[in-house]
Amino acid sequence: MLFQAAAAPYGRDPLSVGGMTQDSPPAAHDHGAHSVHQHGPDHDADGQAEILELDAEVLAEHIASITAWLPVTASPRHIVDLGCGTGTGTLALLKRFPEAEVTAVDTSASHLHRLLEKSKAEGVADRVHTVRADLDAAWPDLGTPELVWASASMHHMADPGRALCQVHDTLAPGGLFAVVELADFPRFLPPDAPEERPGLEERCHDALDQQHAEHVPHRGADWGPRLTAAGFAIDGERTITVNIGPPHTEAVGRYALSSLRRMRGSVDQVLTAEDLTALDQLLDTGSPHSILRRDDLTVRTERTAWAARRT
Ligand SMILES: C[S@@+](CC[C@H](N)C(=O)[O-])C[C@H]1O[C@@H](n2cnc3c(N)ncnc32)[C@H](O)[C@@H]1O
Repeated sequence: MLFQAAAAPYGRDPLSVGGMTQDSPPAAHDHGAHSVHQHGPDHDADGQAEILELDAEVLAEHIASITAWLPVTASPRHIVDLGCGTGTGTLALLKRFPEAEVTAVDTSASHLHRLLEKSKAEGVADRVHTVRADLDAAWPDLGTPELVWASASMHHMADPGRALCQVHDTLAPGGLFAVVELADFPRFLPPDAPEERPGLEERCHDALDQQHAEHVPHRGADWGPRLTAAGFAIDGERTITVNIGPPHTEAVGRYALSSLRRMRGSVDQVLTAEDLTALDQLLDTGSPHSILRRDDLTVRTERTAWAARRT
């Protein structure tokens, strides 16, 4: 079966990988003297953006606790955010390091556009530079940052070892590389839910894991040894366990709905008809079984951060 990355909650648009025709215009707000790699259309960027923004909203405190933990030796002035998406890390880093500017890099013009809109709304647009580039291709000139941040993006690289070496060569001597990764997507339902098909969410994850093992093989990797192999010294590793609710906020309901909705596109060929019916009822916001009507939702997930120094 074909992998439908567009339907995976944090998946990458396969149409944009190495796309050499420019069907969509470059981000209107890109600035800085950086190269812009050509890509295909931002297929499904809105769907992914919705999840990324809910992620930012629901997990804001957890993300802030990771930026607070970073073992920087001096406050960085130039930070690079690789695979920045819609700017969750960029904005958190700008808050954490008020004297810094961030160069935010992504393949998606649409994500970069959202990032700039959000940075304008927060009054920090003058501290943000966007670069549209495919990090699987020739790297753009990113200057000599003291801190590079890559959250949930390194596992998307076709050759992560090459990307880690590129970061090593890009960083200022003594600079820090923060890799944040998730082994798995969040769980929202209790294990015995829904009543008519207990364990449904876990079966969806199992189906998704099978696809990811084939198509996103670096997800869930131990990045410590990889970073060491690329020449870094590991300064710290930290795993954050997220366990929110119940009760839950309205944003958690939307986060659960969006995540399961996107997951459905990847698992519909694998689930039994009974499971699919139960999943559709959860996703039907007009149904009495809608996930939005449940009062037992949680957010259960883990994020691991590695702090690696260029010695
Ligand atoms: C799961 S999202 C994470 C976004 C953001 N770092 C965050 O934590 O919210 C992965 C991001 O990496 C970007 N990405 C994936 N492969 C890429 C590549 N080869 N070059 C540049 N960006 C890439 C995607 O467009 C997407 O925005």
